[in-house]
Amino acid sequence: MLNPWASEDIKDYSRIIKEFGLKEIGPDMLPDNPYVRRGIVFAHRDLDLWIEDARNGNAAILTGIKPSGPFHLGTLMTAVDLAYFHRKFGVPTYYCVADVEAYEDNGLPYEESERIAVSHIAHALALGLSEDTYFYFQSHEKHVMRMAFKVARLVTDATLRAVYGEHPLRLYMAALLQVGDILLPQKDGKKRVLVPVGIDQDPHIRLTRDVAHRMGLVPPAATYHRLMRSLTGEGKMSKRDPMSYLSLDDPIDLARKKVYNAFTGGRATAEEQREKGGRPDICMVFTLATYFMDDEEIRDIHDKCVSGQMLCGECKKRVWDKIEKFLIEHRKKYEEKLPLAREIVKEVTR
Ligand code: TRP
Ligand code: SF4
Repeated sequence: MLNPWASEDIKDYSRIIKEFGLKEIGPDMLPDNPYVRRGIVFAHRDLDLWIEDARNGNAAILTGIKPSGPFHLGTLMTAVDLAYFHRKFGVPTYYCVADVEAYEDNGLPYEESERIAVSHIAHALALGLSEDTYFYFQSHEKHVMRMAFKVARLVTDATLRAVYGEHPLRLYMAALLQVGDILLPQKDGKKRVLVPVGIDQDPHIRLTRDVAHRMGLVPPAATYHRLMRSLTGEGKMSKRDPMSYLSLDDPIDLARKKVYNAFTGGRATAEEQREKGGRPDICMVFTLATYFMDDEEIRDIHDKCVSGQMLCGECKKRVWDKIEKFLIEHRKKYEEKLPLAREIVKEVTR
């Protein structure tokens, strides 16, 4: 069972693909997408059909963020991916601020969601999300509310338990609302909607596909990314332990500390590492490299690591230098986008 409200530590992604009937997404499917090439985005539903519909101008793309969480690398990836699909296919793009879910799941007051969403939207714009994007808050989008209630007429509590497991009513309500989100782009006509999300969100996709069929709408497509493990090497990342994840809001000194303290695949001694090589497959510094460095650099780090040519100290410095450059650049763009983000939030929450 996948639980969208508890961060999970998934070990076996191929089992998930089998268990839930996903399709693997090979690097040849979208060769110009770095996350696909690197296997970070690893599976999909109906992406092939979506691409076809997008080429025929009959598709849209949508994802959502919960403002109760930090803007971490998962959020970065979906924003960058949204920008990518928008650029490549020119499809209408939707970015949902899940303020109702943040309230139901985390008790975050609505005013807080508005304040934090300014920052999240500024980050997303700075990452290249188009200014043409339709930004909205769940609590302000009448159609999403209505859709959620309509969906409630179609699903039984037994279905909710089967899809999500046992949860309090408030989370089932958040689930119905998210189905409403995903159906929003079909408000004025059928189209195929692609939803780039973390694999933990698949229950929402499955439920939406099921009800879309029955409402005479097009079932949504999805791409799934792997969940980032904790930087400390202990299972899942957690909001309660800031050292477990990198956030785009981290001050440079803190970010540096997180990278230098991250769990590595290094050996006990330098001699042993020169002899046997390191283990990038379990190394969080290497994982960070796959987010921030280009293909050649990633390959070079991998080769020098497994051959024992490079030790972790040197490697960390190399990866950190790249991340630091990115963060400094990003922060500049973020500051530039803040006024626009403030305006957007004011506009869509009035
Ligand atoms: N549930 C998502 C999360 O926790 C946020 C979200 C809300 C979302 N509505 C959505 C994601 C619609 C994709 C599509 O991050
Ligand atoms: Fe990780 Fe780099 Fe050490 Fe290899 S050399 S284990 S990639 S930190």
